[in-house]
Amino acid sequence: MPTTMPTFASSTIAVPEYRSVPRHVAIIMDGNGRWATSRHLPRVAGHAKGVEAVRATVEACARRGVDFLTLFAFSSENWRRPADEVSVLMRLFISALEREVSKLHRNGIRLRVVGELSAFEPRLRELIAQAEEHTAGNRGMTLTIAANYGGRWDILQAVQAALREQPELARHPELLGEQAISRHLAMAYAPEPDLFIRTGGEQRISNFLLWQLAYTELYFTDAYWPDFDAAALDRAIESFASRERRFGRTSAQVTAATPG
Ligand code: IPE
Ligand code: IPE
Ligand code: MG
Repeated sequence: MPTTMPTFASSTIAVPEYRSVPRHVAIIMDGNGRWATSRHLPRVAGHAKGVEAVRATVEACARRGVDFLTLFAFSSENWRRPADEVSVLMRLFISALEREVSKLHRNGIRLRVVGELSAFEPRLRELIAQAEEHTAGNRGMTLTIAANYGGRWDILQAVQAALREQPELARHPELLGEQAISRHLAMAYAPEPDLFIRTGGEQRISNFLLWQLAYTELYFTDAYWPDFDAAALDRAIESFASRERRFGRTSAQVTAATPG
């Protein structure tokens, strides 16, 4: 059995266990540029301020008992931005890794970075590898940073990995199952997100976790990412707790199956 086999059930195969606090929160941190522009600052000032919101959100999620926090930091399409802005984002990523990893480690947080990392400069790749290794044994919250990540890239690379593992699938495609793909996804170590949050007012997925968002509760807020804080997180979690997650069933079936 492959070691990457997930320990979590797929939402389309089995109904996940009920929880009022989301086990996995995935966030598109959007609105840094507009936050800065509205203050007559350069866009990059918004990215710098955004790092502070990351710190506050990691802390708040760990306190609330979230097990997995996934943050979209750089999409595979963000390379289309001006070179100067891309370069500042890379510097910020490097300095955040240099400064924050020991604190994450002290707090028992495990750090993972997912995406096509080969596109990054060697210094950044080295820091990522060191940070992942350093925090690998931690049993607290798992913080995943999606960097040069794209949902389509993830599905494609998972299908390719499944075919490499079982070449006979090419001749018998009917044998290709959901789990053969999901266990090769970049985040096969995590359950599917329960709660998706996007700041900045846009209501779209922007090629984030396409496969795993199948039954995730979606929450959109107009707040720009640099203004997102523990109180804003609580409002999102409150909204999550008020939702009825039916996973295809009727409301009466959900009520009968929900404890308490
Ligand atoms: C999100 O903020 C940060 C990244 C995509 C890296 P934006 O930079 O997209 O901010 P807006 O959407 O232009 O305001
Ligand atoms: C999505 O934000 C990616 C990240 C937050 C890293 P974008 O600002 O790039 O998304 P679009 O272009 O508005 O869809
Ligand atoms: Mg944006």
